[in-house]
Amino acid sequence: MPEMRRFDFLVLGSGIAGLFFALKVARAGRVAIVTKKDRAESNTNYAQGGIAAVTSREDSFELHVRDTLEAGAGLCKEEVVRTIVSEGPARIAELMELGIQFSEREVPSAPGVRELDLGREGGHSKRRILHAKDMTGREIERALLNAVSRQPNIAIFENHLAIDLITTRKLGHAGPNRCLGAYVFDKQTGEVETFAARVTLLATGGCGKVYLYTTNPDIATGDGVAMAYRAGAPIANMEFIQFHPTCLYHPKAKSFLISEAVRGEGGVLKTIDGREFMDDYHPLKSLAPRDIVARAIDREMKKSGADYVLLDITHKPARFIIERFPNIYETCLRYGIDITKEPIPVVPAAHYQCGGVVTTVDGETEIAGLYAAGEVACTGLHGANRLASNSLLEAVVCSHRAAQRVLADTLPPPDVAIPPWESGDAHNPDELVVVSHNWDEIRRCMWDYVGIVRTNKRLQRAQKRLANLQQEIQEYYWDFIVTSDLLELRNIATVAELIIHSAMSRPESRGLHYNLDYPNPDPAWAQRDTVLRRAL
Ligand code: FAD
Ligand code: SIN
Repeated sequence: MPEMRRFDFLVLGSGIAGLFFALKVARAGRVAIVTKKDRAESNTNYAQGGIAAVTSREDSFELHVRDTLEAGAGLCKEEVVRTIVSEGPARIAELMELGIQFSEREVPSAPGVRELDLGREGGHSKRRILHAKDMTGREIERALLNAVSRQPNIAIFENHLAIDLITTRKLGHAGPNRCLGAYVFDKQTGEVETFAARVTLLATGGCGKVYLYTTNPDIATGDGVAMAYRAGAPIANMEFIQFHPTCLYHPKAKSFLISEAVRGEGGVLKTIDGREFMDDYHPLKSLAPRDIVARAIDREMKKSGADYVLLDITHKPARFIIERFPNIYETCLRYGIDITKEPIPVVPAAHYQCGGVVTTVDGETEIAGLYAAGEVACTGLHGANRLASNSLLEAVVCSHRAAQRVLADTLPPPDVAIPPWESGDAHNPDELVVVSHNWDEIRRCMWDYVGIVRTNKRLQRAQKRLANLQQEIQEYYWDFIVTSDLLELRNIATVAELIIHSAMSRPESRGLHYNLDYPNPDPAWAQRDTVLRRAL
């Protein structure tokens, strides 16, 4: 039986939210960062377009707030939007102090003088996206991991997958629920370790892998939402899954995003016979908010029967394209597509979870000692549809605020004995094929029935399938020794159920949730979150 590991702060996840928080609290105690693969593997690492913040004289907080509220389709919490937008520039300055190099350009009117090269994306009325060419996330991870490696108070546990939060309620104690740490599966030894901490931060990112087609890497299995739900924390707005309009369509390309910044620099969406179709859908055409563009592409594909649409930037000079989008250029070239000469075949794919664990703007959840920040959290910033590049902004502002709150917190260390993980009489799984089969079935079912366009019937069908699968997965979970595939399967099944349940609870169409049976927004549902909580 492995010994219990004790820390002051336990951080689950090593993307932007987890690393930024860890750096801030390390001065007050020992920090463990638990991360389920290599330390850099995260959604953050693949972010392309950049981070939105008001840094130019032509821009204003008011405009950024307005664009965010408009994209959010009536469901954003305005005070949260104002806080996050107004604190953006200070956090950007800190990121730059930590060594993050955002792209610059020469000021057109002052040769030799450099300024930040601000990009534009869908729904933004101004150029306000700071980026590192088209590899912004990689640059952020590089610099933050570098800073973390210089901190003696921070230990990183790679290939460690958090299974469940440990709470007083689960241990059978009366009184307010308090988080005591987490049980963590060491993928190398196969043992389950106990991590105890005064404060735990969930920074486990999103859940793109719940869907068959996604821009997200394999880590995005919604573990944080599933763990928090099992622990009794409220989960909000899971029906608002954002589908990115432009993922590369190629039989060999897995989840490769074509950044919205390509459209920001003039890229135009066309049908396969070359017709520019976005004029029919929105005055901002190819740069309309994401929900509108993804639905328009879905509609055009269904109308024509084509498997994809085209994104054309060939009218721009080849040198500009290669310099501005080196990663996209080189990746497409590897698949035989020269984006300077031919349009890119693209399809929408699941990209971002706008809902999540209910938190304040300071990352506090309803469970004492448990905080959440980044994509796993639902602060109220995104409402029914996230504005492009607001995610990295939210992660950095809210993880900073959570750290300040934790540092000011007087919560005493818990005085509760934590039992080791109980694996019962579990034996080795001899039918691993069932696990991979269930994975595929859930992801396909979610894609087919709970995707960009929903109906009541499709949602009911998905609910029925999930209920059957859940039963099988629960039996597996209790009967067999845990593996990371099984743990993640259990989580994607839980998150899929939460998405379906939330979608069925909202009898209207709003932002990313579009149901043909209720094709319009219902004013009675404006400002109403869909909140689910497990009865304990
Ligand atoms: P992540 O960066 O996803 O990190 C989650 C961490 O948790 C990972 O280290 C993971 O391994 C770990 N983890 C998960 N489960 C467990 C577990 N059970 N146990 C232990 N560890 C666990 N947003 C923008 O604002 N601008 C962009 O340009 C942009 N581009 C994007 C491009 C792509 C291709 C993708 C996929 C997303 C993009 N996004 C963008 C969204 C943005 O990248 C993410 O929302 C953001 O990076 C999330 O950060 P995070 O720290 O919350 O989570
Ligand atoms: C992109 O580069 O298109 C992704 C931006 C985002 O998801 O915010």
